[in-house]
Amino acid sequence: MEKPPRGKGILIHLLLPFCCSKMLLAIIFLQISPQALAVSSESHWTYEGSHGQEHWPDTFPDCGWKAQSPVDIQMGSVQYDPSLPPIEPEGYWNPGSGDFTLINNGHTVQMSLPPSMRLHGLPSDFSAVQLHFHWGGKGHSKGSEHKVDGKSFPAELHVVHFNSEKYRNVSVAKHQPDGLAVLGIFLEQAGDVANPAYDHILDHLDKIQYAGELSQSGHFQEITIAPFNVRNLLPAHLGHYFRYNGSLTTPPCSQNVLWTVFHQPAHISVAQLETLQKSVYCTEAGEHPAELLVDNFRAPQPLNQRVVFSSFSVGPSGYSAGEIVAIIFGVILGCLSFFLAGWMVAKRIR
Ligand SMILES: *[C@@H]1O[C@H](CO)[C@@H](O)[C@H](O)[C@H]1NC(C)=O
Ligand SMILES: *[C@@H]1O[C@H](CO)[C@@H](O)[C@H](O)[C@H]1NC(C)=O
Repeated sequence: MEKPPRGKGILIHLLLPFCCSKMLLAIIFLQISPQALAVSSESHWTYEGSHGQEHWPDTFPDCGWKAQSPVDIQMGSVQYDPSLPPIEPEGYWNPGSGDFTLINNGHTVQMSLPPSMRLHGLPSDFSAVQLHFHWGGKGHSKGSEHKVDGKSFPAELHVVHFNSEKYRNVSVAKHQPDGLAVLGIFLEQAGDVANPAYDHILDHLDKIQYAGELSQSGHFQEITIAPFNVRNLLPAHLGHYFRYNGSLTTPPCSQNVLWTVFHQPAHISVAQLETLQKSVYCTEAGEHPAELLVDNFRAPQPLNQRVVFSSFSVGPSGYSAGEIVAIIFGVILGCLSFFLAGWMVAKRIR
């Protein structure tokens, strides 16, 4: 908040010896309350409407800066960096004895994570803070925040970490230029094959149906869930990812996030996706009409001068080396069977 104008500060000093404390409080209150009120009403944001994403920069200036997230990753323009090592999660398998807490904050479903969960393979060591989801409405193909060659996935998981090698906690780290690292995981629907890891979260959504009110302690109403193997929420293959410098994808859009977006999606069933799409509301209990929490994804932001790096080589056609090998192999196999069939037919005719 801005310092009070000098004149008023002097006024307070002059009045101080003469006033009773109540009057002084009243003066201070008059000085700060208009700003305080402005902050509380302006800090409200949504994805659509009068507080929607195109208006975020009016209230949260960083949202209008030049290195924002998410981005549409163009396979033809990513730069292969062979020095990027695989991501190595530590403590994801067995994240300690404390329970996880799950909240509906009206913008997303968010689960707290213990700092014993760490990431190696980034420029610093990072510790986990929370994970949350972005998703679309039922029957939409959209829902993810990042895109690949213009293609959306139905949902995206973000696992947020802070730089624990340099900073004491996330409150300090979130104001530092190298403070945060987020893992982005595309969620793809895989018919009726459920991913049991996701049930550890999805099974509890009916208990946080409504957006929690801030309690007096400043915390959202929350439920606790037993710790589970968080590694299983990630794709099998952690070696292939995209890396770029970006921001938080929600206000205040702080531009201090080192992004790792995995190339391989994690798979969930159609039923699991629908549970995410129809279980939680962005409105509070008792609020009418109740509004489903869906379409909580930000549009891709301009890349501007930034480069998106990849940990794997992407061919000029936009296919990764692995995909090219698979295609060549498939073509050879196809030709072979074609000739084989032809040869057998010819043999019969003879
Ligand atoms: C984070 O660390 C700072 C500096 O040591 C401290 O003042 C603050 O209370 C800590 N915040 C939390 C949430 O632990
Ligand atoms: C991110 O920004 C930092 C600081 O400018 C730079 O050193 C680093 O190479 C950038 N990383 C990527 C992936 O662009």
